[in-house]
Amino acid sequence: MEKLTRVVPTISTVEIEENAHDAFKRYRASYPIAILETGGYVVLRHADVSRLSEDPRLCATGTAIPTHGGITQGALFDIFQHGMLTANGHDHQRRRSAISRAVAGEVIGEFRTSVRKAANKLIDGYHQAGEVELGSDYAGKLPILALAGMLGLPDFEVSAFMRDIDQMNEFFRPDASPAAIAEAELAAKRVQGFLKALLASKRKGQSGDFLSRYLAMVDADQDVSDTEVIIQLVQLIIGGTESVRAAMVAQTANLLSSRAQWQAVCENPALASSAVSESLRFEPGIAGVVRLSTDDIDIDGWIIPAGQLVILSSMSALRDERMFEQPDCFNIFRSDLVPSHLAFGGGAHKCVAEALGRAELEEGLNVLAERLPDMMLKTRPTFIGHVFVRRTTECRLTW
Ligand code: HEM
Repeated sequence: MEKLTRVVPTISTVEIEENAHDAFKRYRASYPIAILETGGYVVLRHADVSRLSEDPRLCATGTAIPTHGGITQGALFDIFQHGMLTANGHDHQRRRSAISRAVAGEVIGEFRTSVRKAANKLIDGYHQAGEVELGSDYAGKLPILALAGMLGLPDFEVSAFMRDIDQMNEFFRPDASPAAIAEAELAAKRVQGFLKALLASKRKGQSGDFLSRYLAMVDADQDVSDTEVIIQLVQLIIGGTESVRAAMVAQTANLLSSRAQWQAVCENPALASSAVSESLRFEPGIAGVVRLSTDDIDIDGWIIPAGQLVILSSMSALRDERMFEQPDCFNIFRSDLVPSHLAFGGGAHKCVAEALGRAELEEGLNVLAERLPDMMLKTRPTFIGHVFVRRTTECRLTW
């Protein structure tokens, strides 16, 4: 008997841009997958996203994304060509291994203390003013300061580093203009040049910091080229900035919109960990991970054909009614929250620095709660983007 192939529905750009959570919810109820009008198949349900994160028929995108946008060389292209995030199999393992071990060393070190110090310094700068735009002046700066600390940057270089990272990250936004992409290319070149100089100075006198640890591991492994060393650091910077920024804005706005939960965190800092987890579930900083299908994939009779762009949507999966009670309710006391969930991806590419990301979010939250317990949300942000990194609109706080 011939097998019945079901018709996959298309989610229009208008409906997804109007409210992505609602659109995913509508389609998720009846279909495990949908096609996006802008291109690509999106996997909607928790069990499927979870399972397919480990499926070898879905591979990382290599250089397909910049090539599709007409970029075939240069500093941005190199990030895709030599980085771990876009690599598969042995190349991926080779590039990830030393970074992963060096990051593990950071987690048990002084990282949390240095994040708290940076957070307090930022707040000192505008405490008197009684107002701040959280996205640009706290959530955007804190992860870059954390990275600058990890890399051992001298204070006088931090502002230029911050500017270059912001410009480079523009490339990864869903609506990047050609002018922003040209700026991003120049910024990526500067960041790579800067890291090269930093590494050269490190190799001379090794000590016990993150970079020295990373270089010692690379030297011991002897299977990562000098270019790859620099590009993995660039990927650490890219992976560790916008994702944290969006998540930090989301957790602050979610908690302040539910005063009792904000109050609870102010009174008990130990709740920061579940507040961070629940906020990442409710409004993840990264909407999903992007893959290419190398074979037909059958999900209960609905087929993703080979050769397609596939989005494993954590944004949809983390609101799946099959997995969470009242998924559209933000509740830091929920009992069905799994500590390590799909907001950090899954399978071989699962976030290499989840512990650092969580530490930044928890310390960033606790410092805000300690210093500004009476703060109010003046402008509530909205979240834009339903494929990869999400952007937030203004989030103004007053106290
Ligand atoms: C809220 C914080 C964070 C979130 C939500 C997040 C999320 C993710 C996700 C979903 C992936 C998987 C991407 C994929 O499979 O295509 C990933 C990978 C990655 N993340 Fe994170 N991340 C966070 C923080 C960080 C931080 C702080 C760093 C670095 C300091 C970082 C560096 C990376 C890198 C380098 C990868 C690539 C791993 C690989 O390809 O093997 N992330 N992250």
